[in-house]
Amino acid sequence: MSNKVLVTATINDEEMSFLCEPRQSLLEVLRDVLNLTGAKEGCNNGNCGACAVIMNGVLVNSCLVLGVEANGATITTIEGITPKEGLHPLQQKFLEDAALQCGICTPGFIVAAKALLDKNPNPTEHEVRYWLAGNLCRCTGYDKIVRAVLDAATEMASKQRNPA
Ligand code: FES
Ligand code: FES
Repeated sequence: MSNKVLVTATINDEEMSFLCEPRQSLLEVLRDVLNLTGAKEGCNNGNCGACAVIMNGVLVNSCLVLGVEANGATITTIEGITPKEGLHPLQQKFLEDAALQCGICTPGFIVAAKALLDKNPNPTEHEVRYWLAGNLCRCTGYDKIVRAVLDAATEMASKQRNPA
């Protein structure tokens, strides 16, 4: 007999129901059950931030959350941050500022930066560096990532002041 649990959650503004094993992490469910492969598995132990998602408004490492804990939750993944057309300003600035190399860490950085800008639309460089301390990148040296987040914040503020 299957011991899978029925879980219902709102993921990227869509109500989804899925079966998951009690031992499965939210990261495994997103990637292996729901085919949302934007969240990456780096360390699988909470150290790298590559699996970051926003759950009930809080930035979490999805490798440390059980899939069953998602029941009733509202979750945003990198797929939900990307607009239907074009790119989110964070994604655009990561490209323009060359803030990625291999890209494995990038979804986690962008989800984490989105969570920061939701709370603090005008962060200082220090605040960006402090907030992103839980995200590791083996390639870029961080400066371009921090610049991209600051540039996205500037652009988003300017769009809010001067909507098209
Ligand atoms: S894979 Fe989750 S923190 Fe590294
Ligand atoms: S771009 Fe390779 S780990 Fe960050």
